[in-house]
Amino acid sequence: MKYLQIAIDGPAGAGKSTIAQKLAKRLNITYIDTGSMYRALTYKVIKENINIHNKEQIINITNNVDMTISQDNIFIDGEDVTRNIRSQEVTKSVSYIAQIPEVRECLVRLQQKFATNNSVVMDGRDIGTHVLPNAAIKIFLTASIDERAHRRYNELIQKGEAVVYEDIKESIKARDKLDTERQHAPLKKAKDAIILDTTGLDVDIVVEKIIYIISQKS
Ligand code: CDP
Ligand code: CDP
Repeated sequence: MKYLQIAIDGPAGAGKSTIAQKLAKRLNITYIDTGSMYRALTYKVIKENINIHNKEQIINITNNVDMTISQDNIFIDGEDVTRNIRSQEVTKSVSYIAQIPEVRECLVRLQQKFATNNSVVMDGRDIGTHVLPNAAIKIFLTASIDERAHRRYNELIQKGEAVVYEDIKESIKARDKLDTERQHAPLKKAKDAIILDTTGLDVDIVVEKIIYIISQKS
């Protein structure tokens, strides 16, 4: 049996997880948020008081980590870290940890394993280029920096967090720079990916556009 692989990549705030999640529900297939895996590892590094630039210790943690993912939750060493991995502290540090090639190799192996026996919608930065290079559908989601910053700002305000718009915008820009300029599997559009600029577009419209793209390809 052939499994369907849908790869969704793009910068922070482009709408990847919201759209990938809805798409997976519509198609009744598994959603895998690869960013949550890099975040969970970062959470553990911070919790263990390891300097985020201490490559050797981070690789050691990565090689011994017990990471479990269900449809809606992620666990590290049995602890449900689904909420904690969204903290500003994790967000600020994650792109440094995601630069380490050994960290990526380990997490990519896990991601590829998930997609072996399941149809998946997987979102991240290197899914179409590196994790699932043969995915049937590749989408590169993007939106203007101001729209992406506003989306993230509104999300945090709704959660009751005290945040400043300019700080959020700068933090997104800094992360995008690290993610696009790193040596190993940087954030990049795959040659065969379709670009969808979601600036000014509602979530449901973007989902419909992708459903249409899938229908045209099958
Ligand atoms: O949701 P948001 O765009 O804030 O980020 P995320 O998808 O949770 O990813 C957090 C970070 O993990 C990114 O900024 C990247 O540094 C890293 N990441 C990665 O390097 N490769 C992936 N496939 C997914 C995430
Ligand atoms: O995963 P990524 O960082 O790419 O973005 P996200 O976490 O899915 O989306 C960030 C926020 O923007 C969420 O609150 C979404 O509901 C919102 N969003 C939106 O308003 N319009 C879109 N077309 C996509 C996302």
